[in-house]
Parts: sequence; C-alpha cells; structure tokens
Amino acid sequence: MSGALSPSDKAKFAAARRAVDFVDNGMQVGLGTGSTAAWMVRCLGERVREEGLKIKGVPTSTRTADLAREVGIELITLDQARRLDLTIDGADEFDAEFNLIKGGGGALLQEKIVATASDQMIVITDPSKEVAKLGAFPLPVEVIPFGWQTTMALIEEALEGQDVLGRDVTLRMDGDTPFVTDEGNRILDLHLKSIANPRKLAMMLNQIAGVVENGLFIDICDIVLIGNVEGEVEIRDMGAGTTETDVVDFAVNENIFADL
Ligand code: A5P
Repeated sequence: MSGALSPSDKAKFAAARRAVDFVDNGMQVGLGTGSTAAWMVRCLGERVREEGLKIKGVPTSTRTADLAREVGIELITLDQARRLDLTIDGADEFDAEFNLIKGGGGALLQEKIVATASDQMIVITDPSKEVAKLGAFPLPVEVIPFGWQTTMALIEEALEGQDVLGRDVTLRMDGDTPFVTDEGNRILDLHLKSIANPRKLAMMLNQIAGVVENGLFIDICDIVLIGNVEGEVEIRDMGAGTTETDVVDFAVNENIFADL
C-alpha cells in the first residue's frame, strides 16, 4: 500500500515514523500541524492503540485535534499541561542553525506557543525544506483583523530597513474570502525571497502594533529529522552536535496506510 504514496509523502512518513520513537510513556507531547505532522499523529496513534503507550497530546490546531481524537490520542489543553516534554512538528523551511519558517498551514501562533512551552522541539521534514538562507517560502505573519491594512502598511514600511531581497506583502486568501486562523486572525504572507538576518526580522515584526506573531522560529528547534523516499531518516541533533542515519521499514508499517 505504501507504493501508492507520493515520493514526498513517503519521505514525510519516514521522518514522522522515526520521530515518534522519541516519545515515551507518561510524556506530554505537542502535536504539530500540516501534512508531515499529520503522519506523525497517525504513527503516534498507532503506538497508543497497539503498544498501549500512555501520553497526553496538546494539539496546535483544530485540524490536528480532530485527527488526534480520531486515532485515539488523549488530548489536554496547554493550560492543563503547562509544560510539555516534547513537540513534534513540520516546517516550511529550515537552515543550518535550525531556524525555521512555519505557518504555511496557518497555525503558526499555536505552533510557536506550544513549541516554546516544550523541553524539546523535533522538526520532521522531507529534504526539500532545507535551505542555505530562509525566505524563498513566503513568511507568514499573523495579524489581528482590526486595522489589518494599516498593520500591513507598517510592515511594508519596516521592511525597507531590512536586508531582504523582496518586499511584497499579500493577504492570505481562502477562496474568495480572507483566510481566518484558529484564533480568528488574518495571515499576511511576506514575499522576501531571502532573509539575511532572521533574528532581527523576527524581533522587528513582533514590535509592530497589530502583529500577533511571525512564522520565524529562532532558537526553538533542537532536532531535525529528514526523511527520504527510500525510508532513510537523517537525525541531526543540534545540542549533541551529531548526525545519524536510520531506516524506517515501510513494509512493517502497512497498517498505517490501510485507510488511505
Ligand atoms: C502549519 O501552520 C505549518 O507550520 C506546517 O508545519 C508547515 O507548513 C509544514 O507543513 P507540511 O508538513 O504540510 O509541509
């Protein structure tokens, strides 16, 4: 059945399957959002159902919450959990310092709150997300609906002083209407092409009135797992300074693909 998956899904699945090995009994786990994180939620659900793994999950979106319930993961709120042992999430881009762009799926606010409340953040990805410099992927910025056009103008003005290659800003749409986040906010996508100083940009954006949060995750991610179509997973650990490679056997995970 795994043969029916696209090469990209195989790579995402491999990273997700290996990532859930980091989860132990009793842990409180942040559950990311997106297509890669969805594989992780399914794999975690399988461990809960088949091994009796006892964990509590904190979802980062309503989409993830729905899927987690469906696969049998017990959920709690972040306020109930307070601190998390681990968060596993996808990313839109990552660089050599494990700086990330996130929010392609519009869940960056809850994702950042949950990740920063965690002792460890693991990013799961396919090889296409690795970049020398962040910025080819449009940077999502969550803004409140009130006066969003004024906020957008302030962002455009502030970008003049930033070392970036593009400065177009667009309102994210969902068909004919603006995309609305789980918190009822809007997303502005910043088409910057290349970001010379992500840390400086992240600080600048969060100082603008109307900006709730930006999709730059700086000094948050600890480990990156990069899966490929063959089932190999490269495990890069920033703290330990190590890179290892493991292999996920698609054949022994057939049951995960059964309902696709
Ligand atoms: C969701 O808001 C995002 O941050 C996702 O984690 C990111 O867009 C990666 O998504 P995919 O795994 O679908 O590429």
